[in-house]
Amino acid sequence: MDTMSENKINGLTESFTRDEYNSPEIFNLEMEKIFGTNWCFAGRTDQLAHIGDRLVVDIGNESILILRNRENELRAYYNVCQHRGSRLCDASGSGFGAAITCPYHSWSYSLDGALVATPLHEKDSIDRETLGLKSVHVDQWQGCLFVSLQTNPPALTDWLENHYSRPRELEKFDMSSLRTARTTIDEVSANWKVLAENYSECLHCAVVHPELVDLVPIYKTGKTIQDDRQDWGVSLAQGKTSLSHNPNETLALLPAMEELDEYSVFGAFVYPNMLIDISPTVAVLTRYVPRSPTHTTIYTDYLFPKSVVDDKTLDLEPTISFSDMVNQQDIAVSERVQRGVSSKSFTRAYHTKMERYCHQLIRRYRSEIS
Ligand code: FES
Ligand SMILES: [Fe+2]
Repeated sequence: MDTMSENKINGLTESFTRDEYNSPEIFNLEMEKIFGTNWCFAGRTDQLAHIGDRLVVDIGNESILILRNRENELRAYYNVCQHRGSRLCDASGSGFGAAITCPYHSWSYSLDGALVATPLHEKDSIDRETLGLKSVHVDQWQGCLFVSLQTNPPALTDWLENHYSRPRELEKFDMSSLRTARTTIDEVSANWKVLAENYSECLHCAVVHPELVDLVPIYKTGKTIQDDRQDWGVSLAQGKTSLSHNPNETLALLPAMEELDEYSVFGAFVYPNMLIDISPTVAVLTRYVPRSPTHTTIYTDYLFPKSVVDDKTLDLEPTISFSDMVNQQDIAVSERVQRGVSSKSFTRAYHTKMERYCHQLIRRYRSEIS
C-alpha cells in the first residue's frame, strides 16, 4: 500500500508544514538527524590538489576542515582547537604548509591531526597524545568530496545506492575526469527543502524556464523522464547539441555522451544537499548549505573536460550563463515560496501526483527526522 495514501486529500498529498519551513527547533533537528547523519556533499577533490591544501566547509551545525595529508590521503576534522576550543581555520586554500596552527595560543597540529607543538610549555608537560584533533569521515566519489559526521557511516558507494534518483548511473560520465571552470555562490532567502522540492518537479518548468523548455521539450509537459527511455535521460530538441545560449556549441562533449543516440540531459538529487545536472558539454554540481530555516547558501560548480578548461581560447560563457539563468529563475520562485509559507495563513503545502519525486523526498525526510 502507498504509505502516503492516508494523507491524500482530493487527489493531493500532504507536503511540509509551515513549521517545517520556518521553525528554528525543527531546523536544528534537521541539522542533527539529517545533515549530521547522511554523507553530505562538501566540494571537489581538485580543491585539495596538493599536500596541506585545506577546505573549510559547514556540515549541519559544524565547521569541518578537510585536508590532504603527506601520504596523499584525505583527512577531515572538526575545525576546533583542543586547547580552549577556538575555531582553527577560517579559509580554504593552499600554501599553509604542513602544520595547522591555532590563531589563539599557537598550538599546532600535524596534517594527521596530532598535537605537535604547544609553545611556552615544556614538551613533556602536556600529554599531547590525548589532544589530537577530532576526526570525521571523508571519502570521494567521481571527484566529489563527501563528509559524514556519523560515527560508523555506511560505505559511501552503498549509501549512494540508496537513492531513488540513482546517482551511480551517472558514473559513466566520469566526473572525476572533469575540471571546475567556475564556482558561483548564491545567498538565498529560502528553506533548503523549498529548494529541494523545486528541483524535484518540473510542473513549474514551462512557466518559470521558457528558455530551458525550448531546448528540452519534455519539460513542457511537467515530466522529468521520458517513458520511452530506460536510462532516465531526456532528449534535447531536434538539432540542438547543448544547453547553452548558443545551443549548437562545438565544445568537446562529456565522456560517454558520444555513445548516446541523442543529445541528452540527466539529473539527480543526491539527498540531502547535492544536485547533479549533466548535459552534453557541461556537468553542473550544486551544493546546498542550510544556514537557518529561511536561508540557504548555494554553491554551483561548472565542470568541463580538462581539455576545454585548459584551452583559454574557448568561450564558456554562453554555457555557464545559461545554467546560471535557470538557477536564478529557480531561486526567484523559491524565495517567493518562502515568503508565502511564512504567512500565518499557511498551514501546509500539497503535492499533486505529478510531483512524485517530492513524495520520495518527504518519505525519506520523515523516516530520518522522526
Ligand atoms: S585555543 Fe587554540 S591554542 Fe589555545
Ligand atoms: Fe526549476
